[in-house]
Amino acid sequence: MENQNVVTMPRIGDPAPDFKAMTTQGMIQFSEFIKDSWVILFSHPADFTPVCTTEMTGFALREDEFTKLNTKLIGLSIDSIHSHVAWVNNVREKMGILMKFPIIADIDMKVSKLYGMLQPGESETAAVRAVFFIDPNGKIRLIMYYPLNVGRNMDEIMRALLALQAADKYKVALPLNWQPGEKAIVPPPKTIDEMEERLKSDYEMIDFYLAKKPIG
Ligand code: BEZ
Repeated sequence: MENQNVVTMPRIGDPAPDFKAMTTQGMIQFSEFIKDSWVILFSHPADFTPVCTTEMTGFALREDEFTKLNTKLIGLSIDSIHSHVAWVNNVREKMGILMKFPIIADIDMKVSKLYGMLQPGESETAAVRAVFFIDPNGKIRLIMYYPLNVGRNMDEIMRALLALQAADKYKVALPLNWQPGEKAIVPPPKTIDEMEERLKSDYEMIDFYLAKKPIG
């Protein structure tokens, strides 16, 4: 018999599930929204709550940086469109920050369930703090989940995006704590010949399998 409690959650490498939803910028079809851009889809537990307000204004303050990186932002919570609009207005009035990116009103929890943002051990009624990085081909490339009581780190979200983009552009991997401007890891050799070549290369090398080169 089928187990009704099994929840399918998108994983890294999966196509981003498509959906149609109402947002603070009108109705969107997610596959159309992605269209050749990177997309960061992030959920927050509830409008008019303190941690969420710090996070959402954090995204708003750096939206131009994301735009320059061909990256669109889109938020989500299980609140109504009226709540979203009132919160956006309240934040603009009190803090002078306008959340221009669309925020999905996921009142029927359709998108939250599709993306595994509803994690009942944490909350039955509010989405956890999820961040999905989706590439211009519509593939999920990185997922973060944070609980309700810990805010995310905007610098890490930006660093992760830059790392994904650098990995694609230069066909490299990025080491622990990598920052833009730093050397990247060259993929390890797969044959003995490649290993011999690697040992003769001028890469910064601990050994043939751990070699770095400048990028950019
Ligand atoms: C907050 O954003 O402050 C928050 C939201 C839901 C639960 C706990 C904290």
